Amino acid sequence: MPFSRVTGTGGYLPERVMTNAELEKIVDTTDAWITARSGIKERRIVEDHEFTCDLAEKASRKAIQAAGKTPADVDLIVVATSTPDVVFPSTACLLQERLGVTGPPAFDVQAVCAGFLFAVDVADKFIRTQSANCALVVGAETFSRILDWSDRRTCVLFGDGAGAVILEASAEPGILSTHLHSDGRFKDLLCVPTGVSRNYRKLQNGGAYVTMEGGEVFRWAVTAMSDIVKETLDANRMTLDQIDWLVPHQANSRIINAIGKRLGLSDRKVVMTVEKHGNTSAASVPLALDEAVRDGRIQNGNFVLIEGFGGGFTWGSAMIRM
Ligand code: UT7
Repeated sequence: MPFSRVTGTGGYLPERVMTNAELEKIVDTTDAWITARSGIKERRIVEDHEFTCDLAEKASRKAIQAAGKTPADVDLIVVATSTPDVVFPSTACLLQERLGVTGPPAFDVQAVCAGFLFAVDVADKFIRTQSANCALVVGAETFSRILDWSDRRTCVLFGDGAGAVILEASAEPGILSTHLHSDGRFKDLLCVPTGVSRNYRKLQNGGAYVTMEGGEVFRWAVTAMSDIVKETLDANRMTLDQIDWLVPHQANSRIINAIGKRLGLSDRKVVMTVEKHGNTSAASVPLALDEAVRDGRIQNGNFVLIEGFGGGFTWGSAMIRM
């Protein structure tokens, strides 16, 4: 049975930068509060004419190029998003058409901020069962479209972006293990309570916004993302000091620091990019991974543990030998 290997990464952030100072003019907040409570300094926001698929395409082309492939080589597309361009077709199908690929399966997965981990897990299983050889796995979001820009508790935290990886079949590992969890009892703590079926009239009137019990989510995020690191290490009979890099979901620097502290992991082994783009949901892990690959922190042969946590609740991880 082949393994899957990450052979290319890509990321894309929209050009428009929104600083904390700009948010001070929109809601009752301060740069000092946002920085101290979340670590975020700025986020990127799409223009009116930009959509999730536009960001996904740009990140995907970079990942395909980094892998030395062409779109024609891609035989599976999995897009993790909670902000698809349209209700259907899936953003993966829209992306497939943009890339000029016809035939192989393309579909979305929806696990909010843990979505990229769910997408990697699915693509890894396609490759391991020899149903695909070259998978494009994307996390792409335009969360700015589902933010209530009058709610200071949420609008300062999120941003738009996309990240992508190419996974290829290989005799050498690769992805060593993946781990996924969900617990729907917590569905109300972090959600958009409006949809195309439930509360659809609100949606028709333009009212679909993120709501969050921040403190509760914070506590669960720290616990779940610390525990899953241990679960992932145990599954691979590895110890913490054997990891070269931890790439956690980029929601809040305090969450990331609390995970490091709980585990006893040095800051020097943790990739943190949240200050530059805020919480980009499903895009956050592949964006952080891409940045650390491109700036040379993550090297071939490194053991990299990626992990995410989001609404649902959903959480997941993967141990990767780069
Ligand atoms: O991606 C999925 C995972 N998402 C997350 O992991 C997010 C998890 N939660 C968090 O990151 C944090 O809980 C927040 C950043 C959302 C909030 O930080 P906190 O330290 O938990 O603050 P808090 O919610 O306890 O609020 C403290 C105070 C409140 O005022 P009072 O009630 O103490 O008077 C808030 O009203 O800060 C106030 N506040 C703000 N003040 C200025 C809330 N938002 C803001 C704001 N600017 N933007």
